[in-house]
Amino acid sequence: MNTSRRSYLALWCVLSLAAVYLLMGAGIPWLLKIHYERTALVPTPSTLKQWYMALTVAAVLVYVTSSPKRIEDFFSFFRSERGEGLFAALRFSILAAVPLVVGWAVYGLVNPGTAAPVELRIQHPSSVPEQYRTLTNPFRDPTPEMLAAFRAAKGLDLEGEALRAAFEKDCIDEGRIHYQATCRVCHGTKTDGNGPFARGYRLRPVDFTIKDTITTIVEGVAFWRVKEGGSKHNGGGGLPNESSPWDSAMPAWKNDFTDEQIWKIIMAEYDIAHVRPRETEKHGHQ
Ligand code: HEC
Repeated sequence: MNTSRRSYLALWCVLSLAAVYLLMGAGIPWLLKIHYERTALVPTPSTLKQWYMALTVAAVLVYVTSSPKRIEDFFSFFRSERGEGLFAALRFSILAAVPLVVGWAVYGLVNPGTAAPVELRIQHPSSVPEQYRTLTNPFRDPTPEMLAAFRAAKGLDLEGEALRAAFEKDCIDEGRIHYQATCRVCHGTKTDGNGPFARGYRLRPVDFTIKDTITTIVEGVAFWRVKEGGSKHNGGGGLPNESSPWDSAMPAWKNDFTDEQIWKIIMAEYDIAHVRPRETEKHGHQ
């Protein structure tokens, strides 16, 4: 009696793992459903499931390796000289199950899904490349030379504030054309994130018109986001790993627009959204 039970040690190990897996995946959700009088099952968080499975594997390993006899019993199950019929079938199914379970787990890991990741998204990562963090928009605060060149090019007869205002309007108008031609499809005519493509992304473009999106970043950071895009797969430097696994569809625009154009698009973007960028001076750092 004793010997026959021990010789099935490997089978017991597999059954214990399966039992804990079923308990976590089905038993507990079902018990909690009854306990809390819910209409649907209460799923166990997957990290909790992983922890319990890891602990069970550890416990099984500790048990099996706790004596040379048990190690011997464990492996004896897989030796071909041990029995035929049902025993051989069991042995074969366990051996066949190993690659199947591993393959299924790997498939689950690499198969791209459409569900949103459970982690919170870090919209504004702290690791902005240094060269962008300190950049300022040259068209926000034009030099006298820039204003003079503008006045000459446009044949204007303006001075001081009026010239500055005309310069700013000209930059915004140019940026607005690019914005509506290229960014609108995702970000929307009004920069509210409701462009015709927006719905196709599980990470939708954010609403620029509300307080906590582009108002919280300095223009240098907006410049970085437009130039390098949202993901390393979009042709740019993209967001750092801390923003994963929320992959962003935001393209990198560095090959389509010059730096000057990007600065003007950013001015237009804030203008259309009726918001102001975060000021560098007031905060000292971004
Ligand atoms: C293919 C769709 C698409 C196009 C086209 C697109 N964007 Fe985006 N953009 C996104 C998505 C999605 C996000 C949100 C995810 C992210 O932060 O990367 C985003 C984010 C941004 C952000 C960062 C906002 C923040 O608060 O961090 C800026 C700035 C931006 N886009 C500007 C632009 C500009 C300017 C253009 C045109 C030159 C443009 N986008 C074109 C999809 C797009």
